[in-house]
Amino acid sequence: MRAPRLTLLIALCMALAGCDEDAKPAAVVGKGMPADPALAHIYANSCQLCHANPAANAPLTGDRKAWEPRVQQGTDTLLDHAINGYNGMPPMGQCVECSEDQFLQLIGFMADQPLPR
Ligand code: HEC
Repeated sequence: MRAPRLTLLIALCMALAGCDEDAKPAAVVGKGMPADPALAHIYANSCQLCHANPAANAPLTGDRKAWEPRVQQGTDTLLDHAINGYNGMPPMGQCVECSEDQFLQLIGFMADQPLPR
């Protein structure tokens, strides 16, 4: 009677762990740097402080699931929230010298998915 119980256990483990193919390993979420050196510099001095820190309650870099509903709001809303602030998100993400284009590139990098046009 051991085999069926073992099968059940394995099935339960799989159900709990989830078979989500979109899910990234935890090691990837919050890691990584924009390839562009100028963007990486901005990111390291600003966005990363919160968007790679689970305690900050910000959607984490590379966490596509967390970013998906935000991206669906549309690019204009994302840009507006980045520039004017949104709850715990400070205006301009504390990067006063950032251009709109840089914000869009940083958001696209963190969201790990294309932003709607
Ligand atoms: C001081 C911490 C902090 C910094 C620095 C920061 N963010 Fe955020 N950000 C947050 C938090 C917290 C949220 C989640 C706000 C919420 O949904 O209530 C957020 C959310 C966002 C969102 C999603 C807004 C939405 O409409 O859902 C965007 C876009 C964003 N940040 C971009 C940036 C960019 C780009 C930078 C760097 C230039 C940056 N953030 C720097 C804390 C920060």
